[in-house]
Amino acid sequence: MNYVRPWLPKTKLRFIPLVLGSALFLWTLLPYPRPPLHGRPRPGFRYPHERHPRPRPYPPPHPHTIWQERAEQVKGAFLHAYDGYLKYAASHDELLPLSNAAVDNFNGWGLSLVESLDTMWIMDLQEDFMDALPVIANMTFDLPSTEYAPFFETVIRYLGGLLSAYSLSGEPMLLARADDLGRMLLPAFNTPHGLPTYAVNTVTGATRQGWSSDVLWAEALSCQLEYKYLAHLTGRKEYFEHVERIMDLMALAEVKDGMFPTKWKMDTAEPANDQFSVGAFADSAHEYLLKQWLLTGQSESKARSLYMKSASAIINHLLYLTPNRQLLYVTDISGSSRWPSHIFEHLSCFLPGLLALGAHTLPLSDDDRQLHMWAAEGLANTCWITYADHKSGLGPDEMVMEDWDEDPSGYKGRWVDHVKAWKRKGSPGGVPPGLQGIETKARGQRDYTARRGTYLLRPEAVESFCLLWRLTRNETWRDRGWAVFESIERETKTDSGYSTLGSVEVSPAPKMNSMPSFFLAETLKYLYLLFSEEELIPLEHWVFNTEAHPLPIFEWADWEKQRYHIN
Ligand SMILES: *[C@@H]1O[C@H](CO)[C@@H](O)[C@H](O)[C@H]1NC(C)=O
Ligand SMILES: *[C@@H]1O[C@H](CO)[C@@H](O)[C@H](O)[C@H]1NC(C)=O
Repeated sequence: MNYVRPWLPKTKLRFIPLVLGSALFLWTLLPYPRPPLHGRPRPGFRYPHERHPRPRPYPPPHPHTIWQERAEQVKGAFLHAYDGYLKYAASHDELLPLSNAAVDNFNGWGLSLVESLDTMWIMDLQEDFMDALPVIANMTFDLPSTEYAPFFETVIRYLGGLLSAYSLSGEPMLLARADDLGRMLLPAFNTPHGLPTYAVNTVTGATRQGWSSDVLWAEALSCQLEYKYLAHLTGRKEYFEHVERIMDLMALAEVKDGMFPTKWKMDTAEPANDQFSVGAFADSAHEYLLKQWLLTGQSESKARSLYMKSASAIINHLLYLTPNRQLLYVTDISGSSRWPSHIFEHLSCFLPGLLALGAHTLPLSDDDRQLHMWAAEGLANTCWITYADHKSGLGPDEMVMEDWDEDPSGYKGRWVDHVKAWKRKGSPGGVPPGLQGIETKARGQRDYTARRGTYLLRPEAVESFCLLWRLTRNETWRDRGWAVFESIERETKTDSGYSTLGSVEVSPAPKMNSMPSFFLAETLKYLYLLFSEEELIPLEHWVFNTEAHPLPIFEWADWEKQRYHIN
């Protein structure tokens, strides 16, 4: 049969609709110029570039695998916590998960909502994301004249959250709010050398000191990712200049062997103590050195060389082994004798992920790369053991690690010395000290005691498991992350959310009336990314700020390099 459509000419012209149709279809496949959310490009996916993102038109991938099923369970946990927050604490900062009430502990602007935006986007909760936008659009970041916004927390949580949600969704209003807030916080830099003051009133610009007149290293060096990205998006020079001035101070500071102290003098910008640490006073400063270099397309060599210095100081001076199980841990040192405190904080469990990220990106020698990875894996093992040792399945917030007997020097457990001795012996067993398989121990038999036995829903251990899984593809980290999630579900779930715990030693553990916003921003996000079968937020395109808000890696244009004197 020779059927010919009557309305098409029989000549070659009849192919025109087909050709045009195919061209149109292929055009829809062109990548939109945003960093990919997914590790693998998928046909048909386009970032919503208009004001109203549409739901994704396809079912979740790999629904059949056990890991995707587990990722869905994490999403369920997020929805449980977020719904409880909306029901009992909307427009306030955090939910009180036992009394079903609210608390305003970070400026009262609705912190948990802002910190949940990117998590919702990543978990494909588009409707909840859209519902939050009118509330954000309304935000004015006002404060009564007697109250002050803590600079560090406001930057990493609010500013980081808004910028991340903007970069994922392309919603311009989120950038406008980030720009508002970024500008309102600038008076914090009006100090003799530009080190940020502890807190600022966003309306009057008045500033206030914290409990100490000195500046913590973490507070001075944990605003560069946010402000540099904001400078890149807005072209506002002052954003870049204020935060880079602090980097210049660090590059010129007289600091021995890369051991940047935890406190700095506001009036002279000189070291104010001789403590070197990766704990609470310093943690994210180490992180932002490496991550600034990564975020700006590996263009800022100043940041890179500062990280290389601080990381080798950590490895050479802060890593110790316990005598019994040979647990590798990181502590802090002080004084001219560099005396170790043997205190190990849960907060420091971010370090294995950071070291692994550095080992995979920095120009290190093969030996150094291996040393950084050994340190990363050994430390993450210890973080895991401090969870597995306890009946609740969760780890204490702060520990004192056992010292070596008859060791007046205090240095006998130093890890690098043990690694050197092991190498001299010909590397017996092929596994360096601190990385052997480790058995769990009951109370009273452990090589550490809890200094603070609480569990605060903190992210650092699962953050490192997530990064190590991404970088090594060793399933052990996923298995451990799953065990942590099961313990969180069993021990911390309440009718309206999840609660911190008074003690990890027993099960059921005693609950406390608090659900920090970082549980929504960080802990559940990292668990979701750890289990998801899609490689969401691939590390070659995104950098997580210290509150787990991903920012897209970008490159400075030539005109920006000239404008900001970047070389
Ligand atoms: C925004 O603010 C206005 C004025 O205060 C208020 O009437 C409105 O309900 C707010 N909208 C949202 C979504 O919070
Ligand atoms: C995976 O990691 C665990 C914990 O560090 C280690 O014991 C195991 O040997 C690793 N497996 C592989 C295949 O490297």
